[in-house]
Parts: sequence; structure tokens; C-alpha cells
Amino acid sequence: MKKIIVTGGSGFIGSNLVNFLIKKKYYVINIDKLTYASNKKAHFDKKSKFYKFYKIDLNNKDKLIKIIKRFKPKAIFNLAAETHVDRSIDGPKNFINTNILGTFNLLESIRYLKKNKINTKLIHISTDEVYGDIKENKRSNEKANYEPSSPYSASKASADHLVKSYIRTYNIDAVISNCCNNYGPYQFPEKLLPKMISNIFNNNPLPIYARGHNTREWIHVGDHCEALFMLYLKGKSGESYNVGSGINIKNIDLIEKLLKICKKLKIKIGKKTKIKFVKDRPGHDFRYALNSKKIFKKFKWKAKIKLDVGLAETVKWYKNNKIYLRGISKNIYKKRLGLKL
Ligand SMILES: NC(=O)c1ccc[n+]([C@@H]2O[C@H](COP(=O)([O-])OP(=O)(O)OC[C@H]3O[C@@H](n4cnc5c(N)ncnc54)[C@H](O)[C@@H]3O)[C@@H](O)[C@H]2O)c1
Repeated sequence: MKKIIVTGGSGFIGSNLVNFLIKKKYYVINIDKLTYASNKKAHFDKKSKFYKFYKIDLNNKDKLIKIIKRFKPKAIFNLAAETHVDRSIDGPKNFINTNILGTFNLLESIRYLKKNKINTKLIHISTDEVYGDIKENKRSNEKANYEPSSPYSASKASADHLVKSYIRTYNIDAVISNCCNNYGPYQFPEKLLPKMISNIFNNNPLPIYARGHNTREWIHVGDHCEALFMLYLKGKSGESYNVGSGINIKNIDLIEKLLKICKKLKIKIGKKTKIKFVKDRPGHDFRYALNSKKIFKKFKWKAKIKLDVGLAETVKWYKNNKIYLRGISKNIYKKRLGLKL
């Protein structure tokens, strides 16, 4: 049975990817520090012979090496990260420690093991945010300059540069994926969509930064997992691949769409559930948009899930899994973050 390590396998995309790989009959080893953003109530079959969990910080190189040496995985998907832009504005240090130093440690472990003839393929997960603000009618391809705006995106950009340098200098086997905004089950409710869904369920206002005209590209996490799997199978070492859906929408339009979907699903919209414009995020990028022609041209990969369908499924998932939201202390995610200057 082929073994795969997923770092950050208890986070949003990580948990979806672990489930995806288990279904594909891989033996999955999840390495996660279990920060506030992780799913503590791991929904994986803990007793499964084909799933192992290790609570490890990416910065613990000795433990990383031990695990990689023991399992000799075919691949490592690196998803462990600090991911909330607003938190990176309040306190960038954790982002530097995990996203940059943690990735550095992982790369050092892979380099050390390569010297000892243990080879593994790294699929390093990055973001569209590294390209910075993208002008209307333009899309960033893989050759676009990195122009990160927030401490979060700068830490991701730094990690990507480190990965590229290790490929070129030490000849490690690695690919980078730059993906747009994900939505779907198991996302921590401080992020836009689960936060809005949770506020709708609880008859709370829907806070939107500035006038809601910032535009993002949205992909269902299931499509992202398919793309990552494709990059594991076929991605060429040294290459970066944009993973987008081509679906770009203003935040305000997205939330209005969400409200319509909730109404259709007969979810009660309370009197207090109204869009409320709040102070903008400092340094807020206006628009991200990916050109994802490369992954389509090379591997015929394309996002399949339509936004309306994926959103309706996501709302249903949160409705059927209210326990997931109840299990998280509201103090962690209700406060407005990212305004400290
Ligand atoms: N969510 C998105 O829309 C999106 C889009 C593009 C790229 N990405 C990237 O995908 C990856 C996963 O994102 P996500 O949304 O699932 O994040 P998440 O915040 O939901 O999960 C991150 C996971 O990493 C773990 N972690 C954090 N620091 C760690 C450390 N030092 N050692 C080990 N584990 C640690 C956390 O405990 C958590 O389980 C990140 O690299 C992120 O930058 C996310």
C-alpha cells in the first residue's frame, strides 16, 4: 500500500485531502500541531489500519525525519500553515515560524533523507495571494511576479521561494500549487463563508469589509483535492501550477448568492441577519484571479463543481454538522481581528 504524509491534515483542506486519499486506498500519515484552527474531533477513522496521526510541529526536524524515515512515503503534501490574513496582521510571528521556518525544516528533512537515498515527492501547497492585487481583466499565470501584500502572503511567498531554491540547488523532487480561495466542509468559521453561514444560522449580522467590492476566485475543496492528487501523480518537479476555477465574484455578490441559496434551502433568515459594512482590512488586496491554463493543458484538469451547487452542498453540510460549529469556542472566532496598526 502506498504511503503518503499530509502535514496540516487536521485543517480545512488537509482533512478533506486525508479523506480523499484514504478513499483512493492510500495509507495516510497526518502530521499536525493541532492549532486552534484544526479539527480536534478528527473525523477520520482513527482505528483504521490505514491512517496514522502524529501531533508534531513542523519545526521539530528530528521528529519529522524519524517519521519520514519510518514510513518512506511516496509523497508529502505540505498543508501545515497559519492561514488567516487578519491574524497575520495582528501577529505575524507565528506565520514566519510555521510558514517559513516550518517549510524550511521540512525541506531540510527531505534533503537529509535524500542524501540517505530516501526519496519522496513534495507537493507544496501555496496560494494565489502571493501574486498580490491583480488588475481587472487580467489573470496571473505561473510566470507572474510575486507581490505579496500581507504578512500571510509574504510568508507563503517566502516558503515558495525556499522550495524552488531546494529544487534547483539540492535537486529535491517537488512541485508547487497556487490555489485560489477554497470553500466546503470543515473550514474554520473565522473564514468568510463559514462565518457567514454560522451567522445566518444564529441570526447575526453579516459583516463585510469596506463596500464588499473585493473580488476573489472560489473553488470547491473537492476540486482542489483532485488537482493536488493530479500534481502528485503527474506534476513535473520544479514546476508551479495555478489551481483555479475561473469563478470570480465580488464578496458582496457572493454573500447575496449565499442568502438566496439559504432561502431556497428553507433556512430561516432572522431579522438581524443583514449585510453590515465594516472597516476595511489594512492592505486589503482588491482582486485575485488565476490563469489556470497550464494545469488544463498539461493534465486536462479542470474544476468541475459549479459555485451554486457547491455552495448549497456546503450550507447543507454545516446545517447537518452544527456540532462542528458548536464545538468551537466563539471567543476564538467572533472578535474582529486585523485592525491593530
Ligand atoms: N483555505 C484556502 O482558501 C487556501 C487557498 C489557497 C491555499 N491555501 C493553503 O492551503 C494550506 C491549508 O490551508 P487551510 O485553509 O486548510 O488551513 P487551516 O488553517 O484550516 O489548517 C492548517 C492546519 O495546519 C496545522 N498547523 C499549523 N501550524 C503548524 C505547525 N507548525 N506544524 C504542524 N501543523 C501546523 C493546523 O493545526 C491546522 O490543522 C495552507 O498552506 C494555505 O496557505 C489555502
